[in-house]
Amino acid sequence: MTDHPFALNQVVPAFLPEIHKTIANARPKVISFALDDPGDLVIRGHDIGALVMHQVTNVAQAVQAAERGVDIIVAQGSEAGGYSGKVATLPLVPQVVDAVHPIPVLAAGGIFDGRGIAAALMLGAVGVNMGTRFLSTPEAPFEEWKAPILDANSEDAVHVDIFNYATPMPGAQGYGTVIRGIRTPVLNDMISKSEKTIRPAQILAALSGDNKANMPVAGQSVGGISELVPARELVRRLVSEAEKALSRR
Ligand SMILES: Cc1cc2nc3c(=O)[nH]c(=O)nc-3n(C[C@H](O)[C@H](O)[C@H](O)COP(=O)(O)O)c2cc1C
Repeated sequence: MTDHPFALNQVVPAFLPEIHKTIANARPKVISFALDDPGDLVIRGHDIGALVMHQVTNVAQAVQAAERGVDIIVAQGSEAGGYSGKVATLPLVPQVVDAVHPIPVLAAGGIFDGRGIAAALMLGAVGVNMGTRFLSTPEAPFEEWKAPILDANSEDAVHVDIFNYATPMPGAQGYGTVIRGIRTPVLNDMISKSEKTIRPAQILAALSGDNKANMPVAGQSVGGISELVPARELVRRLVSEAEKALSRR
């Protein structure tokens, strides 16, 4: 795959032992978990010689993850794309940093440029975990989401709780997170129907498989993203912008 260090991710509510075996065989330097108490998975990660990173959405989850022995904690604010909780990045990160000291904390949620990275460092994070910004790269394998991400304003990226009416879905379990995506006509129609009239099978059919364009999964940072930038160039830009922002202190 690569000679360089890499990380692999498994969301706890969708944990499958056979997938974990494949992950273990790949010998990642970091194994990351999210969306529920990692429990004994921390020991499993350490047993394969990996550092264990875990993403949390509030302080209580962070304290529990620290007690489990994780090596790195990602404090993910509710602005994030994908599944997220209720607390925004700005209040969450410094609280998690204080609660789990000296465990290193990464900030996630709503960061789309170097100023956001600089802000995360000011909050006590040692780095960031970015998702939505990297969807807007030519390399990202989600072609149908790119135009909506470039067009959307931040307020178009909403928490869609109807997704949790369909079980088993990751957000309906564990930390009780809700998926955030960009409003589309199909999604608006589904949101306007009540919990009683919409069926889980309809939700899954409308949003998965070939219908993925019905809900581009992305966070509130979409409003700040107006061009596709190759991943390599993006990382260079982010570092240079962060350095510039930090030098203005
Ligand atoms: C399309 C998409 C899929 C994601 N899938 C996962 C996942 O499988 N596992 C995970 O731990 N986090 C996942 N995340 C969340 C990211 O790890 C990260 O917390 C989030 O993207 C940060 O917020 P941002 O999107 O505002 O940058 C996903 C995010 C997006 C946008």
